[in-house]
Amino acid sequence: MIKEICVNGVYKNYVNGEWKVSESGNMIDIFSPIDGSKVGSVPAMSKEEVDEAIMAAKAAQKEWADVPLIERAKLLNKVAFLLLDHQKEIADIMVVEIAKDITSSLAEVKRTSDFILFTADAAKQLRGEMLSADAFPGYGKDKVSFVNRYPLGTVLAISPFNYPVNLSVSKIAPAIVAGNTVVLKPPTQGSISALYLAKIFEMAGLPKGVFNTITGKGSEIGDYAVTHNDIDFINFTGSTDIGRHISQITVMKPLLMELGGKDAAIVLEDADLKEAAKDIVSGAFSYSGQRCTAVKRVLVEDKVADELTGYIKERVEKLKAGDPRKADTVIVPLISDKAADFVCELIEDALEKGAKLLVGNKREKNLVYPTLIDHVTEDMRLAWEEPFGPVLPIIRVKDVKKAIEIANKSEYGLQSAVFTKNIDKAFNIANELQVGTVQINNKTERGPDHFPFLGVKSSGMGIQGIRYSIEAMTRVKAMVINYERS
Ligand code: NAP
Ligand code: G3H
Repeated sequence: MIKEICVNGVYKNYVNGEWKVSESGNMIDIFSPIDGSKVGSVPAMSKEEVDEAIMAAKAAQKEWADVPLIERAKLLNKVAFLLLDHQKEIADIMVVEIAKDITSSLAEVKRTSDFILFTADAAKQLRGEMLSADAFPGYGKDKVSFVNRYPLGTVLAISPFNYPVNLSVSKIAPAIVAGNTVVLKPPTQGSISALYLAKIFEMAGLPKGVFNTITGKGSEIGDYAVTHNDIDFINFTGSTDIGRHISQITVMKPLLMELGGKDAAIVLEDADLKEAAKDIVSGAFSYSGQRCTAVKRVLVEDKVADELTGYIKERVEKLKAGDPRKADTVIVPLISDKAADFVCELIEDALEKGAKLLVGNKREKNLVYPTLIDHVTEDMRLAWEEPFGPVLPIIRVKDVKKAIEIANKSEYGLQSAVFTKNIDKAFNIANELQVGTVQINNKTERGPDHFPFLGVKSSGMGIQGIRYSIEAMTRVKAMVINYERS
């Protein structure tokens, strides 16, 4: 597969059904976060090349929308099966390019294939409606509205480094099945994995122009692409800073944004503490905490704080750190030295202000060992900022009211978890939390992928999730029939 998309480590972009080399010759070298070795280089596309990709998508859209839905769905099913056939090859490139452990990389490809199959099916369930005017005062039965769903046009999909395959497809598949065409701007660190994905779409036989890629730094081509007149919708996942920037510079362009988080796990004194500790540790530390939905703080009632902390500590101490190519590694090198510097800065700030280190605070280059910090207080940055790394702060609270207050004080509002055996309490707390989703007795997480997934406040706008994503990338159009009743 790789042979067709790359020559001697130099990758091409997929534009208008062809693999194109960089015309300017400007390339970006991609180095592995594991050991700094070169993985390959991808084109730093010029604005003219971005234009070409967007124009190809625009030109293909009308014809693609005319393809019967059942045929579009069949093509997507083909993509899903091909992805599975190439699961290992794609997972292997993800391991070296973004240092995601091999178990999670394989799982990401499988989940993506399942996502596509579900999307192809879900699209078939999308239906419009017929409304009769006589339900409104002053109207009779001689007026009916046929309401149907139509694609938006050309969708710009922008994905983050931590799920270069899955969070690309979570935009591409619902867009394409609904009759849109897509231009994908993958994360720079993650572009090669995304180009493998593009190859799979090509192999499935998608018509030219339906799916296109544009590689290049977001800081160089991002503003140009998001403000492009021929982009009809932007589906973005990434940091709150970039999301905010995009929403400031785009005018009258519909946006779907999934951004940062500071998910809290609230643990009540009646919780099953051992189970809670298990969920919290896997929620906080998988892929070294580089997940928007990672548990990023624990708010525990004083009375059970010592016991819970003991169970968490036991588990954190056992986490394997090191080479993502080994099946049992959980803690992997962070995406960059800069990311590791930031995590260590937050740890240092908390420790300087009197928090208690229970595990970790050790670093080798960009590998930050799992770190657990107790007695974190509201004056510390770790209580509020998103580390996107393997550090978990424990904030002790006197009661549930205080836990809810601290949880809601965050600028973010992605998810929260509540651990308790009392379902009444769980519902009452869930009602008060300002987040998109509350998980009761489980870690925070996005899946299953047909559930709605959204953030409030600085965590996003709009709703993802298979049916929700299809709806977001379609609009209704009404045809009103006026007829003479006999
Ligand atoms: P990021 O730095 O915001 O980058 C995300 C994407 O935006 C990348 O493709 C990036 O390209 C691109 N980009 C950068 N500047 C741009 C611009 N001016 N215009 C258009 N695109 C631009 O985020 P990240 O570091 O990849 O991911 C980590 C962050 O994403 C965390 O904050 C995490 O919480 C959040 N996230 C949220 C969710 C969610 O569903 N809520 C899921 C995953 C991640 P380059 O790579 O070329 O810079
Ligand atoms: O990083 C953000 C992803 O949307 C999180 O997905 O909960 O399945 O890891 P996940």
